[in-house]
Amino acid sequence: MTLAAFPAGVSLVASGAATPACSVSNDQLSLWLDTSDDWIRSRTGIGARRIAGPGESLTALAAAAGRQALERAGWDPASVDLVLLATSTPDDLFGSAPQVQALVGATGAVAFDLTAACSGFLFGLVTASQYLRCGAAQRVLLIGADQLSRWLDWQDRSTCVLFGDGAGALALEACPAIEDGLLGFRLASDGRRSDCLRLPQRDGRQELQPGISPQEGGFSPLQMNGQEVYKFAVREVPAVLKALLAETGTEAAAIDWLLLHQANQRILDAVAERLGLPAERVLSNLAAYGNTSAATIPLMLHEAVSDGRVRPGQLIASSGFGAGLSWGAALMRWRGPATA
Ligand SMILES: CC(C)(COP(=O)(O)OP(=O)(O)OC[C@H]1O[C@@H](n2cnc3c(N)ncnc32)[C@H](O)[C@@H]1OP(=O)(O)O)[C@@H](O)C(=O)NCCC(=O)NCCS
Repeated sequence: MTLAAFPAGVSLVASGAATPACSVSNDQLSLWLDTSDDWIRSRTGIGARRIAGPGESLTALAAAAGRQALERAGWDPASVDLVLLATSTPDDLFGSAPQVQALVGATGAVAFDLTAACSGFLFGLVTASQYLRCGAAQRVLLIGADQLSRWLDWQDRSTCVLFGDGAGALALEACPAIEDGLLGFRLASDGRRSDCLRLPQRDGRQELQPGISPQEGGFSPLQMNGQEVYKFAVREVPAVLKALLAETGTEAAAIDWLLLHQANQRILDAVAERLGLPAERVLSNLAAYGNTSAATIPLMLHEAVSDGRVRPGQLIASSGFGAGLSWGAALMRWRGPATA
């Protein structure tokens, strides 16, 4: 990776997605949990979620999503300078991005993981944009992928019903500043509230010798204070979006699509209401996938680009939020692949 000598804009060129084959409905969950389709749908909008099976590793899903984004962009994989994988559930704690880089054939790229839970994709987008703007990269493959199914307590009805697995990707390219597709962003973290949503290291030590007892690796299942997280989201997400709109001089009415982290339909509705946006402009695929963590935003974007809802030139206001606590917003303009 070398540094070019000009500042640049960022183009959102093409998307991709991959989800596991196995879809598990709310009714199926109620076979072993004291829950119901009615409870889950009315509280969250979730109807089903995908659960990764054999052969559907995080790396495989991320690579499939990434490959599709590269194909849609029409790029030679070897032309990618950076593969950025936003994930909290890598197959390898040393990072899964290099394996994804190898699988997609991005032989000239540097690759690394970025962890920011459900805000991961948004944090990744901003990180990628810095590489593009300073000229360190011309092309970036950004992937948001998570497989929380392996870190859930499947007997805990207050958490396991909410999450699913998936991957989404975005091909990003440097462009002239005048064509910039990332109009602004704001990111925030508050570690003082990390207890609300955690996937902590498990307790446990092995005693090798008296006084020498290294901790054993491994994590406890996801823990969440649902009500606190809900309150956090409906307070911070509208606030960060409003601040971003004010900063960029954008009227809410100019937003074509509100693309939020897909955690809960009630959160989407509350945020849209506080911004004064009608339901038709709110993108939601919670019913089919639930909360796929770092994958929700690119998975939703890919669906809406593929079915023609999101069109070149449209303005998208996006916000991610989740564990950390972490949150943020970005104002983007969709470009799409260059036409010959
Ligand atoms: C999780 C959430 C849906 C729970 O809804 P809630 O209205 O706050 O529900 P509560 O936690 O107060 O629980 C109410 C009751 O439902 C029960 N309940 C919880 N999960 C249930 C389930 N899946 N099925 C049936 N009952 C359930 C509780 O045990 C409780 O019963 P009780 O009153 O007898 O004790 C809601 O808090 C939420 O969406 N929070 C945000 C979570 C989120 O988005 N996290 C990810 C952020 S990235």
